[in-house]
Amino acid sequence: MRVMITGIAGFIGSHVAEEMLSLGWDVAGIDDLTGGFVENVPSDARFFKRDCCEPVDDIFSDFRPDVVMHLAAYAAEGLSHHIPNFNYHNNLVGTSNVLGAAHRVGIAHFVFASSIAVYGHPSSNAPLTESSPCVPCDPYGIAKLACEHHVQAFHRYYGGPSYTIFRPHNVFGTRQNISDPYRNVVGIFFRCAKQGAAFPVFGDGSQTRSFSYIDTVAKCIAASPSADRAKNAIFNVGGDQSLSVRDLALEIAELTRAAPEINYLPPRNEVLHAHADHRKAKSAFPEVFNSAISLRKGLELTAAYVADRPVPPPTLCPSEIEIADRLPPTWRTIGRTSQN
Ligand SMILES: NC(=O)c1ccc[n+]([C@@H]2O[C@H](COP(=O)([O-])OP(=O)(O)OC[C@H]3O[C@@H](n4cnc5c(N)ncnc54)[C@H](O)[C@@H]3O)[C@@H](O)[C@H]2O)c1
Repeated sequence: MRVMITGIAGFIGSHVAEEMLSLGWDVAGIDDLTGGFVENVPSDARFFKRDCCEPVDDIFSDFRPDVVMHLAAYAAEGLSHHIPNFNYHNNLVGTSNVLGAAHRVGIAHFVFASSIAVYGHPSSNAPLTESSPCVPCDPYGIAKLACEHHVQAFHRYYGGPSYTIFRPHNVFGTRQNISDPYRNVVGIFFRCAKQGAAFPVFGDGSQTRSFSYIDTVAKCIAASPSADRAKNAIFNVGGDQSLSVRDLALEIAELTRAAPEINYLPPRNEVLHAHADHRKAKSAFPEVFNSAISLRKGLELTAAYVADRPVPPPTLCPSEIEIADRLPPTWRTIGRTSQN
């Protein structure tokens, strides 16, 4: 069986590729390297440096995948307010383009990486279930929700491919890009620890998240094409242990023996407490959740990985800023990446 993975050079994509190879699949992947690193692509996978928004039919007809896993996206959620056109083009048009090419070669199953961002600001602190109202509050979440609708409507209209949609949240772990200044608070804190810089925290740091170690997320995604209960279904996926951003900073400082110095920044408009209910994913992928490691263990593994490697140069946003109003001051140094 053959799987095509978009975003294969990224954090989650490279782990999913590794899982698929270990399950015996032939793996090929697309990535434009705006956010990922070619070194992340497993050596047994075929790699195509391509943009998902450009025609990809030639690669699809050559490789003839049975399954496509569409993980490519520009995922800096907070920044998406300031680059809405780029966000919708890259994330929504890119998804439509990949799904169309996948259908033209007759794939059986399409996996889409959505996000907890589709829920927007929850109206209570109760964990979000897959049937909680979806009222996304930024262009990133709006594009993800539109993609979900597109994938489902496509299935209804054409009778295929079947699909699985995942809504991951706050994923961290080995191979995460610690040099992206606009997303991944875990990665940002590890980079600051390595560079001896204060940890930047928006507001008072009391906002809580359930940080999710990569293994659980990558293994659920990898298992989904073969899991009957994952056909035409949507899953929250990630960890259950919640932590405030301030406590996360202190924990990473302790693990890396860095000074626990926090640089408190003005609060930004963000969800205060984001937690997802994973009962549905646990019942579809019980073996994955039964072997899940603790948040602390995940942070220890990430700390060991980060300790052994140099800090890569900053990965900047691949777009010009479209709306500078309300751009956090720490994001003002933004610019295009050297790859563009
Ligand atoms: N990491 C998280 O916490 C998280 C949470 C929710 C959802 N997600 C989603 O999971 C997916 C993977 O996220 P990640 O954390 O691995 O991010 P990542 O940036 O590490 O990986 C995304 C990859 O997609 C590539 N890419 C972006 N636009 C592309 C395009 N137009 N054409 C080709 N390649 C392109 C990037 O170069 C990068 O390698 C994304 O869709 C993201 O929105 C991630």
